[in-house]
Amino acid sequence: MAQVGATETRWSSRLTFILAATGSAVGLGNIWKFPYEVGQNGGGAFVLVYLACVLLVGLPLMMGEIFVGRKGRRNPADSYGELAKAAGRTPAWRLIGSMGIVTGILILSFYSVVAGWAMAYIPDIAGGMLDGATAESVGKHLEGLWADSDRMMFWHSAFLIITVAIVALGIKGGLERAVKYLMPALAVMMLMLLVYGAVAGDFVAALKFLFTPDFSALTPQSILSAVGLAFFSLSLGMGAVLMYGAYLPEAASIPRVAAAVVLADTAIALIAGLVIFPIVFAEQLPAAGGPGLVFKTLPLAFAAMPYGSVLGLVFMLLLVVAAITSAISLLEPVVSWSEQRLKLPRWLAALAWGGLIWALGLLSLWSMNDWGEVYPLAALDFAPCLSESFCAQRGWAEALGVARLTWFGLLDGLTSNVLLPLGGLMLSIFVGRLLDHYVVSEELGMSGILYALWNVLVRYVARIAIILVFLNAVGILGYVLGLFGVDW
Ligand code: TRP
Repeated sequence: MAQVGATETRWSSRLTFILAATGSAVGLGNIWKFPYEVGQNGGGAFVLVYLACVLLVGLPLMMGEIFVGRKGRRNPADSYGELAKAAGRTPAWRLIGSMGIVTGILILSFYSVVAGWAMAYIPDIAGGMLDGATAESVGKHLEGLWADSDRMMFWHSAFLIITVAIVALGIKGGLERAVKYLMPALAVMMLMLLVYGAVAGDFVAALKFLFTPDFSALTPQSILSAVGLAFFSLSLGMGAVLMYGAYLPEAASIPRVAAAVVLADTAIALIAGLVIFPIVFAEQLPAAGGPGLVFKTLPLAFAAMPYGSVLGLVFMLLLVVAAITSAISLLEPVVSWSEQRLKLPRWLAALAWGGLIWALGLLSLWSMNDWGEVYPLAALDFAPCLSESFCAQRGWAEALGVARLTWFGLLDGLTSNVLLPLGGLMLSIFVGRLLDHYVVSEELGMSGILYALWNVLVRYVARIAIILVFLNAVGILGYVLGLFGVDW
């Protein structure tokens, strides 16, 4: 079969794929979100639920996504389209791939702003920001950064320039070279910090917090956040993993590489917890600091500890490196699509999309100051209320819990809670049900009971978990349960 539009590019080896995909997976999700969500949701029990989600939903879907990429050998839209055509299904499946490409653009727009904060901290810490720091001074520092659009814009731009440059250089000259140096660097920094936390921090308290489950701290909401977090952290549901799978050599076993990536991502999330919490607990600071945990609580703890400035610097560098190797996987799908469909040269595509993403990022950036009280979804309240009990007194936006979302909150929530789960749901239907079982099991290199197990997990377990997250995110779950008198 003539592979029109299919890519000839391949990773140099199975290991390079694992490095790149792990680089995509390990990012702000592991080092920033995972620890603060664990902190907010009470520790051990949440960790346990997260691990179950990763194993039962994340791993099977990761295999499915790599499969679509390697079989399709194209950008997400065309890979879906080709496989659907080959299986006699509607070519409209390509829209799922297109949605993923757009999701990547949306995520990268705010991801770059947050990565910019970590970058901004590097010269500040090097310049002595932590010397004699107090809770007040660190708090002021973060607020000062958020109030300063120009400074945030500078770092947001710097981060995107690095990302665009790597992607512009191509798979072998850019992505592969970047992950070959950055991933070992990331591992070394991580281990340094882990040893430091174990020696200088309160390691026992952290172990207890992370691994002694207190199920009373678990709410249905926190279970659903664990599913969403697993998606985000594993880079699932938008086609980043699919895109990397398109460059995976034929001989590599999909279940094996998927297992390696999932294992590495999960290990790094746990280690991030074991880096952050010993240090935070050593200073008797709260674990439930929310999104400010690594930008406020942690620097404060570092300030009080021996060699804190040096290690604080290493930590921010770690955050930036992890974010770069993730950001390139968010940009690659749209660039590959532009190359294959629009026949644009790679460098031009990377630059043009980078520019658009930069501009989109301003929405999130200004949400931290001038637009802090712009709530785009508040307009929903003008929609007629169809259900007395649900929205008569409080209006739709309030009832759905979106009345006070800024643009930043909207982009984050829309992608993590709606678009990624939706992408995951369609993926699970596509690979679990619509494609020919024979084709799938052969490409995955699994048969018999193993294939059956995978298929059940993708078709039922993953699907049900995703549907619940989705219904919850768009407020329907709360609405329906409300009809039965359950307060959600
Ligand atoms: N997984 C990355 C993180 O943990 C973020 C990321 C990169 C991502 N590519 C993605 C999230 C694709 C969802 C989809 O920070």
